Formats: sequence, structure tokens, C-alpha cells
Amino acid sequence: MLGNFTYCNPTKLFFGKGALKEMRGELAKYGKNVLLVYGKGSVKRSGIYDEVVAMLKECGKEIYEDAGVMPNPTTEKLAEGCERARAANADLILAVGGGSVCDYAKAVSVSAYCGEDPWEKFFIRFEEPSGKIIPVGCVLTMVGTGSEMNGGSVITNHAQKLKIGHVFGEEVFPKFSVLDPEYTFTLPAYQMVAGFYDIMSHILEQYLSGTDDNTSDYIMEGLMRSLVHSSRIAVKNPLDYEARSNIMWTATWALNTLVAMGKDTDWEVHMLGQAVGAHTDATHGMTLAAVAPAYYRLIMPYGLHQFRRFAVNVWDVPTKGKTDEEIAEAGICAMEKWMKEIGLVMRLRDLGVTEDMLGGIAKSTLVMTGGYKVLTQEDIMQVLRESL
Ligand code: NZQ
Ligand code: ZN
Repeated sequence: MLGNFTYCNPTKLFFGKGALKEMRGELAKYGKNVLLVYGKGSVKRSGIYDEVVAMLKECGKEIYEDAGVMPNPTTEKLAEGCERARAANADLILAVGGGSVCDYAKAVSVSAYCGEDPWEKFFIRFEEPSGKIIPVGCVLTMVGTGSEMNGGSVITNHAQKLKIGHVFGEEVFPKFSVLDPEYTFTLPAYQMVAGFYDIMSHILEQYLSGTDDNTSDYIMEGLMRSLVHSSRIAVKNPLDYEARSNIMWTATWALNTLVAMGKDTDWEVHMLGQAVGAHTDATHGMTLAAVAPAYYRLIMPYGLHQFRRFAVNVWDVPTKGKTDEEIAEAGICAMEKWMKEIGLVMRLRDLGVTEDMLGGIAKSTLVMTGGYKVLTQEDIMQVLRESL
């Protein structure tokens, strides 16, 4: 049965070729001072930076820059961003980049005036924002995280070996996001396919949980089928607009909070992946790909009906003469075959993990309670060992 819920997603999207021009109307809603946040330089090489700066100038904005946001943004960078936002007296934070840049912009938005250590407040104690929140807008250049239309913000604390996400409320969602599929054409293949698995993982975190008949499950099956289909095309031809645009839209759907409404969700693969990320700084989607198959095999007996459904409705696994266990296992095998086909990292050792690191990674793994099994420390170690 669907649980009760209240739903609102306040992010306005501008989607498609040339969508950036639509941002003009949004910019007019905010004051003069814009903190322009971006990563390590891809937006300069692709020319997106020049387009954005030209529009900001044309709209009479004062531009303050905050460059160098790294993949998996850190607490140190967050502190620097807060200072820059305050010094600029920013009326708008404009994030131009991937999930890391968007997540970071949201973290700066709530932290610049929070008056205390944001890591402790938001990422350890999970408190809600209490001070002024600076509005955020996004121009997305990398597809996967869904950060363009959600309140998620993931920050890494290397000293504490923790990578933690806070899912903020509506007031922190981007006010608007520009989604131009062509802006993702310059992504290296490694990042592109990591994003593809991030999308698959977001869907599975919300699909592989619960026992009820739920509209969201049917929607998610469609999203997964579309992703698998388009990803195969995109890997062969990264410039295929149809495939890349479908994937961009699937990614937004996968984590814009809609499919989670009224439904149990898991997120344990993300907890394992983020712990791996905290110890290795590896690419987010790859950390998920490396741990997911072993995790799913561990929990499969506890959610067999849904794994069977995944196999049949997403991977077209034939059922005749097979037990439910065999069908479910064939579904995971089909997913693994697709993962290898598109070029994902399938083993933790390929992300720099060594056996002696597993205990530390296990300690950094948060345990969630919404999935088919609440993991023990032994379970976590088993998944990590099998994923090595
Ligand atoms: O820094 P630059 O030079 O821009 O390069 C980036 C970066 O090296 C590059 N890139 C991005 N767009 C490009 C491009 N290179 C060429 N052409 C382009 N168009 O790609 C690299 C990765 O970028 P990043 O933003 O780190 O990737 P992603 O979008 O996967 O974001 C990962 C972060 O998002 C968090 C992850 O934990 C991780 O910290 N997540 C956020 C979520 C949310 N807000 O809901 C949920 C996710 O599960 C995820 O945890
Ligand atoms: Zn993710």
C-alpha cells in the first residue's frame, strides 16, 4: 500500500539543445552578485564557461568566481566556498558542472551563514538549515547524480574517512537547472559510463525494497529499460543525441524524489560506495558498480519476489522450468553482463582498494534500515571481500 506523502519539487528545468538561453529569465529574479562555481577546467575547455559568463555579463551581473571544485568535494573546499560566498555577498550561486559542483553549491548555500561547523551540523548531526540560504541554479555538464533536481549534497571528510550525504528539503533544491544534452558530449567515456551506473543504482536503491504493489515500481522498470537501451547506443556513439538526451532525462527522473514517494527505499549500495569513496576518492558511479552485485546476491533471499520481478520485467529473463531463485540470479547475471559491456569497473581492487583497507571501509559504512536486510558488520565485510 502506498504510504501517505506530501510532494513538491520546486526546481524549474530547461531541457534540450540551446536551453541555456532560457536562463536569462531566471537570472532576472536574483540580485546582482553571482558566485560562479565550477570544477577543474572542463567547462573552460568545452566553451560552456564562456557562454555562461557572456550571459551573466549581458544580464548585468557582477561575477565572483569559485573554481576548482573537485570530484567528491571536501570539507576544506566547502570552508573556502563559504568565505567566497560571504565576501561576494552572493545573491545567487550558479553551479556549472557535474554532481560534485551542484552538490557543493548546495552545501555552500546552507553553510555560508550557518554560524557553526557545517560538517558537524549537516553531515554528522543531520540538522536542517537555520541561517540564510543562498539560492542555487545549475547548468549541468555530467549526467548521473540527479543533483540538478534534488536536495542532495554529498561531502567528503578525508581526515575522518567519511563521505556523507545530506538530503535537504525543498528550500535547498536548485531554483532552476539547465539540461542541455550536448553539454555532456565532451565527457570522457569513464565518467560517462560511471554516470550510467549511478542512474541504475539510484533506481535500484528505490526499487529493491518493499513488498507492496506500487506504481513507482512500474515507472522504475520503464526507466531501467530505457537506460539499458540508450546506454548501449551511447557507448558505441557518444554523440548520439537521442540516446544521450534520453539518458539525461532518465537520470533526473531517477533521483528527483518522485519515485520514492510512499515507498520503502534502501540506499545501502550508496553507503558502501561512499565508504569506498572516502578511502580512495574513486569515481562515485564506479564505487557503486564494484560493490553492487555482491550486495544484491547477499540480500536476494530476503527480497526474492522483487529480484524475480527485476529479472523478468527489466532483463526479459525466461521463466519456464526455473525456480524463483534461478530467475532472480539470472537477472543479476544479465545486469553484470550489461555492466561489463558498457565498461564499468567491476572490482574494488581496480579502484585502489587493498585487502588491508576493508576493515576501515566497513567502519565507514553507514547502515540503512529500509532495504530487505539490515547489514551486520560481518555482512558488510562479506560484501567487500567478495567485491575485492
Ligand atoms: O572538474 P571538471 O574539470 O569539470 O571535470 C569533471 C570531473 O573530473 C568531469 N566533467 C564534468 N562534466 C564534464 C566533464 N568533463 C568533460 N566534459 C564535461 N561535460 O567529470 C568529472 C566528474 O564530475 P563529478 O561532478 O564529480 O561527477 P558526478 O556528476 O558523478 O558527481 C559525483 C558527486 O555527486 C555525489 C557523489 O557522491 C559525488 O560526490 N552524488 C550526489 C547525489 C545527489 N546530489 O543526490 C546523489 C549521488 O548518489 C551521488 O552520491
Ligand atoms: Zn549515486
